[in-house]
Amino acid sequence: MLHLQLSTDPRWAEMAKKDLRALLIDHAWCEHKAASNAMSIIVRNPGLTDLVEALSRIAEEEMAHFGMVVQRIRERGWTLGPERKDSYVNELLTFVTKDGSGEVRLVDRLLFSAMIEARSCERFKMLSETATDPELRSFYRDLMESEAGHYATFIALARKHGPGVDVDARWKAFLTFEATVVGRYGINPEMHG
Ligand SMILES: [Fe+2]
Ligand SMILES: [Fe+2]
Repeated sequence: MLHLQLSTDPRWAEMAKKDLRALLIDHAWCEHKAASNAMSIIVRNPGLTDLVEALSRIAEEEMAHFGMVVQRIRERGWTLGPERKDSYVNELLTFVTKDGSGEVRLVDRLLFSAMIEARSCERFKMLSETATDPELRSFYRDLMESEAGHYATFIALARKHGPGVDVDARWKAFLTFEATVVGRYGINPEMHG
């Protein structure tokens, strides 16, 4: 369903398991950034009511995920710790067009969001299959389903609000670019690291 062109190396999940604290802290901030991203798309598109409502639901869900991850950090006797930059996401951002019409830029921003949801979904699936703690396995499975829903929402919004854009072709281009980026990752105990 996600059509990712390159799968994450299974060694990533093994490494992430060995530094659960680092993974959870990074994961919490990913959820926070996902909420911020949804809110920033709302600010730029106040006239698109369906988009405003859909993204406000996503922002709420991402902040709920943030709270759930923080809870799991606390339960293990750890604290959240500072946010770190997400190099993978920053590299993807370079592919988002800064020129073109408002429609072209909105479609790109929505596909960029869908791309991060798709990759996160793939990684949650890996964690749901490999985590040592059974509670974490089911937690990641629930998150995987939620992020898959977000992915579908972003793609649907891109199609709806980009009637003049070849969304399928642009999505294929995103997938191809993402494969060149993600191939350099899978090496750190971070959600996209
Ligand atoms: Fe999330
Ligand atoms: Fe999400």
